[in-house]
Amino acid sequence: MQKKTVLITGATDGIGRALAKIYQSRGDRLVLVGRRALDTLNDALYTKNTYCRADLSQDKCADRVCEFLNAQKIDAIDLAIQNAGTGYFGTIAEQSAESIREIVAVNLMAPLRLTHTLIPYLKRTNGKLVLIGSITHAFPCPDYAVYAASKEALNTLGRNLQIEGDINVQIIHPGATRTGLHRKIGMNNEKTKKFPSAERVAQKITQAIDGRRFVATIGWQNAWARFLGRYCEGMVNAMVRTT
Ligand SMILES: NC(=O)c1ccc[n+]([C@@H]2O[C@H](COP(=O)([O-])OP(=O)(O)OC[C@H]3O[C@@H](n4cnc5c(N)ncnc54)[C@H](OP(=O)(O)O)[C@@H]3O)[C@@H](O)[C@H]2O)c1
Repeated sequence: MQKKTVLITGATDGIGRALAKIYQSRGDRLVLVGRRALDTLNDALYTKNTYCRADLSQDKCADRVCEFLNAQKIDAIDLAIQNAGTGYFGTIAEQSAESIREIVAVNLMAPLRLTHTLIPYLKRTNGKLVLIGSITHAFPCPDYAVYAASKEALNTLGRNLQIEGDINVQIIHPGATRTGLHRKIGMNNEKTKKFPSAERVAQKITQAIDGRRFVATIGWQNAWARFLGRYCEGMVNAMVRTT
């Protein structure tokens, strides 16, 4: 199989790191985007040739990624997986303005900025852009409303990009996954113990990427939940209100 160039954002933890390991095992050339310093990442995955440090909450994040690609003499990308994500657990009233800005910046503005920047790179290979959403986009999510709203907007972005037709786009919606995300956003970690592992979910994500579906939900229970959230809104809102 021909070696591909695969860019993954949020590649330093959870699903992103598990995806990076899968594409590394396939022998692909990796571009791993993360906010941490390279010398704090103790894994052979991350080297000065594979790791691009960029804080995706910042306006200039796409310029930083572009500089890295230029320095590596990469002018074409086969697969760009926009996976980085962040959130906050609590009501909007309790949330700080900075936390709201950061979530919208990382979960929506960065994918938009990076998509804009990466379109020419993807066109050169007839490559694919993958947006990692969440089934939460289809539900009311009190206590992580800004996160869910950012994922709904991401879904809309992908849907419209697909219709515009300049590049191949896929939106993948995982359900609850056992990663560090819940701890980072201040959620009770006990609840997450029963969730599937990042490695298992990443494996299913790569299967979806190898397939042709424009929108893919990971796991049939999640697909059902997403369907109900989308098309039985009144009933689902009432159920969430009473829980
Ligand atoms: N876990 C779930 O239950 C779940 C469910 C549905 C969808 N998802 C989605 O799956 C994706 C991956 O989430 P995960 O669960 O794997 O979370 P995770 O383990 O926290 O990984 C998130 C990744 O995004 C990076 N990131 C966060 N803010 C960043 C910033 N400002 N600049 C650059 N990178 C940044 C993190 O960096 P650090 O390592 O420095 O924190 C990390 O590499 C997200 O889009 C999330 O919304 C997750």
